[in-house]
Amino acid sequence: MSNISSVLEEKRLFPPAADFVGNARLDADSLAELKAAAQKDPSGFWAGLARRELAWQTPFTQVLDDSRAPNYAWFADGRTNASANCLDRHLGERGDKVAIRFEGEQGDTRNWTYRELHAEVCRLANGLKSLGVTKGDRVVIYMPHTPEAVIAMQACARIGALHSIVFGGFSAGALRDRIDDASARLVITADGGWRGGNIIELKKAVDEALSSGCKSIEKVVVFRRSGHEVAFDDSRDVWWHELVATQATACDPEWVEAEHPLFLLYTSGSTGKPKGIQHSTGGYLLGAHMTMQWVFDIRDDDVFWCTADVGWITGHTYVCYGPLSNGATILIYEGAPTVPDAGRFWKICQDQGVTIFYTAPTAIRALMKLGEQWPAKYDLSKLRLLGSVGEPINPEAWMWYHRVIGREKLPIVDTWWQTETGAVMMSPVPGATATKPGSCTQPLPGIFAEVVDEAGERVQGTEAGGYLVITQPWPSMLRTIWGDNERYIQTYWAQFKNRYYVAGDSTHRDADGYYWIMGRVDDVLNVSGHRLGTMEIESALVSHARVAEAAVVGRPHEVKGESVFAFVTCNGERPQGDEAEALIKELRAHVGKEIGALAKPDEIRFADNLPKTRSGKIMRRLLRSVAKGEQITQDVSTLENPGIVAQLQGKA
Ligand code: WT7
Repeated sequence: MSNISSVLEEKRLFPPAADFVGNARLDADSLAELKAAAQKDPSGFWAGLARRELAWQTPFTQVLDDSRAPNYAWFADGRTNASANCLDRHLGERGDKVAIRFEGEQGDTRNWTYRELHAEVCRLANGLKSLGVTKGDRVVIYMPHTPEAVIAMQACARIGALHSIVFGGFSAGALRDRIDDASARLVITADGGWRGGNIIELKKAVDEALSSGCKSIEKVVVFRRSGHEVAFDDSRDVWWHELVATQATACDPEWVEAEHPLFLLYTSGSTGKPKGIQHSTGGYLLGAHMTMQWVFDIRDDDVFWCTADVGWITGHTYVCYGPLSNGATILIYEGAPTVPDAGRFWKICQDQGVTIFYTAPTAIRALMKLGEQWPAKYDLSKLRLLGSVGEPINPEAWMWYHRVIGREKLPIVDTWWQTETGAVMMSPVPGATATKPGSCTQPLPGIFAEVVDEAGERVQGTEAGGYLVITQPWPSMLRTIWGDNERYIQTYWAQFKNRYYVAGDSTHRDADGYYWIMGRVDDVLNVSGHRLGTMEIESALVSHARVAEAAVVGRPHEVKGESVFAFVTCNGERPQGDEAEALIKELRAHVGKEIGALAKPDEIRFADNLPKTRSGKIMRRLLRSVAKGEQITQDVSTLENPGIVAQLQGKA
């Protein structure tokens, strides 16, 4: 893999800049102290932080409960509330501080102070209660990336309801499946959201989802955002503004056990069915809270911009819970990075006074391609820290970020983590860690990573390659998969006999103990930082009447990281020429309808059959080589019809 060879040749080292170190929350010595304390007594270390950093209604006496491992519990006899931690405790000192700065794609702006945000959250929380939502109920949020999405999350947390956000780019079908799996009682949506000058028809998708299932849904709360006309079912639908109009601006938080689930978030795995990752309240919040300090060095005068949509875990932890629990000011931008032109992100950084900017490598690569003249137009001098997340960042993109956006002096934190881990696990600590382009460096305090081989044995030595595992439970880890604890155990623990959490990534650890993430070892793709299961796309394809069988693989892509490549066999004759063209169009639209535009295959090729081993397993490695356009070196003599290789290559 070119990725592996290029990162393994990467020898540049960037020590933290002296002026950053001088003001940083953590320098090398204080980081070493934290790591030593965590090493000595991991659960005691986390307990100390949980007591000091979070607000508890009932203090906990239990710390880590491993009696039902690998279902771990943290701080189980304590009671807290995530919304009280994010809002109420700042009202005294930071009531008039801006919590959210918002900018819409069309240029509309609005700010919310902590006091205003608290009032809005309470009004919606009371509104939800008036609709019968209570502790433990599931509420699906299908919203544009606006402050109201954060208000909806906080309102759920406030009353102990579990939110399950479905990214607005998912289709009605995907929304329906997630609503059904969670048996959600209520959906919070908007008439529409803005993206690239177009209105995303969210309410319409909800109506479609509800017409084909979702029997558990009682009410749909609709926020008016785009203002265009939408169908409205008076017996079921409620306008947000009407719901909250008469509600009080105070609402006592529901104090929940630390282990009470805060939210579900569906993510893709190796099967066709997405899994509802279940996070806790206390442990999750502690991870979100501490990593804002350790990784992002958050300060009261920062304007923190995490560009991720609230529909992804990054948006949960670093748009909503982490920054707000620290009383920080966040920026939310609803829209595309290139509207009205390729300078939009940098103009926002300038106009909104952004100090910390956190985005994905795919965005960095896309902006890099658009040229240096765009960032050069704007004053980026307020920026003091840059971050990257979601996929391996190639050294070239890292160096561009460093040179063009970071003025060759800003620290870059390349943060490795997952939906399942809840918070950043491995990352540089900006005032302490020397960085290497392409490496997420080392685990944070209290996080213990290892490299193991096929047999689960730790790989020793200075240059180690293998499976990335986490050897000790940590507070913000997922608790289970909603409704399927067996799948939780099988997916994350069974491979090495429940000894380690198996991340599903392969990794390399160099002589300095730095980790380099090499990518997924399962059938999960990472397309523009979005996680997609190959099986999900395959089952979407085979649900089309013309498709008999489908195999989906990832192909390296300059900007997106990976692109979706599908090989398809049809019922009836293999389509060719115009017929093939037309069917490709139809299948792309079909996948868009089944899952969402983000999953549409970039390329589709038809063959008479798919290459399989004698035991009937699809030869994915062969298909990956074909997708890349590589010379085929695998033995294809066992294929039923070796002639199909030419078809797969598009040559016959
Ligand atoms: C997978 C998790 C939580 C972040 C958003 C994506 C890949 C994530 C990095 C990084 C290399 C990374 C891994 C991981 N990944 N961050 N800094 N360097 N790879 O969350 O959708 O749960 O995907 O994203 O492969 O397993 P996700």
